Amino acid sequence: VKPVKIGIVGLGTVGGGALNLLKANAAEISRRTGRDIIVSHVGARRDYPQYDLTGVTVSRDIFAVVNDPEVDIVVEVIGGTTTARELVLQAIANGKHVVTANKALLAQYGNEIFGAAEAKGVFVAFEAAVAGGVPIIKVLREGLAANRIDWLAGIINGTGNFILTEMREKGRDFADVLKEAQALGYAEADPTFDVEGIDAAHKLTILASLAFGIPLQFEKVYTEGITKLTREDVSYAEELGFRIKHLGIARRTADGIELRVHPTLIPEQRLIANVNGVKNAVLVQSDAVGSTLYYGAGAGAGATGSAVVADIVDIVRSLNVENINGVPHLAFQPDALADIPV
Ligand code: HSE
Repeated sequence: VKPVKIGIVGLGTVGGGALNLLKANAAEISRRTGRDIIVSHVGARRDYPQYDLTGVTVSRDIFAVVNDPEVDIVVEVIGGTTTARELVLQAIANGKHVVTANKALLAQYGNEIFGAAEAKGVFVAFEAAVAGGVPIIKVLREGLAANRIDWLAGIINGTGNFILTEMREKGRDFADVLKEAQALGYAEADPTFDVEGIDAAHKLTILASLAFGIPLQFEKVYTEGITKLTREDVSYAEELGFRIKHLGIARRTADGIELRVHPTLIPEQRLIANVNGVKNAVLVQSDAVGSTLYYGAGAGAGATGSAVVADIVDIVRSLNVENINGVPHLAFQPDALADIPV
């Protein structure tokens, strides 16, 4: 059986994490998919001496990866929305499956990208785009598929939660913790996205689309970050028996779906109030199973690399059973409930 060839575009935290994991766990992954999966081409605009790229074609021109006829699956992890959009659309046009961690891209251009993928009959998978290593996309798409979802609420930005945790537990300064989050590879290239709630709004847009079957509508999210919070706010909340948590909330109401991202006060005995550091958690309320909670590392190379590789495995399994037929298991179905206002 021929190996599946992966092209990775971008070797930052996520790309490097996926590359290392595909190598470190190659035997397990091959056993689980019945195929060898090899990284054959990497597109990176600079050198990354920390990675072993023996036997891998390395291109400065990142479009060389999506135009490489040998590549089966393109992993887009360059971030940003301009070049990334062109690159992903080109990959789809070339008949490649795409795995992306790019929540900004999907929140803003996902309707176009999923439409193009559906027309071409290729997969666009995006587990790494929300909540890092927590498989919340697969939960909404598969695990809770029998349920009507009433609402979901989550800590979906690891950097922000790390900052709030360090401020509360150690009385540390906001700017100082943010610098550490950047050094640890948690923060976005532009950390304003983390601390002003934009990254969480991107992720909430994606979660709501899956949970409620609505198109991606990033512009409808009320967005407030954590930059106005002080150490005093955090410690007053604690004195009163609360924790300040930055949440993304999507909820059915009589008037439609409500989407909001902002700091909240949560009673300290609640599970979600005790999600600390870079951890993320998403609580989902649905009719059949009731309340379920998903928890784990929300950022960093291991967590995001794990999610990217899970998507690769998912696509390879689907290819094995030849069930590509209008993108059966990754597609959004916005038409079903598209009349719900947001
Ligand atoms: N900057 C993001 C976060 C990375 O801190 O959650 C993972 O999406």
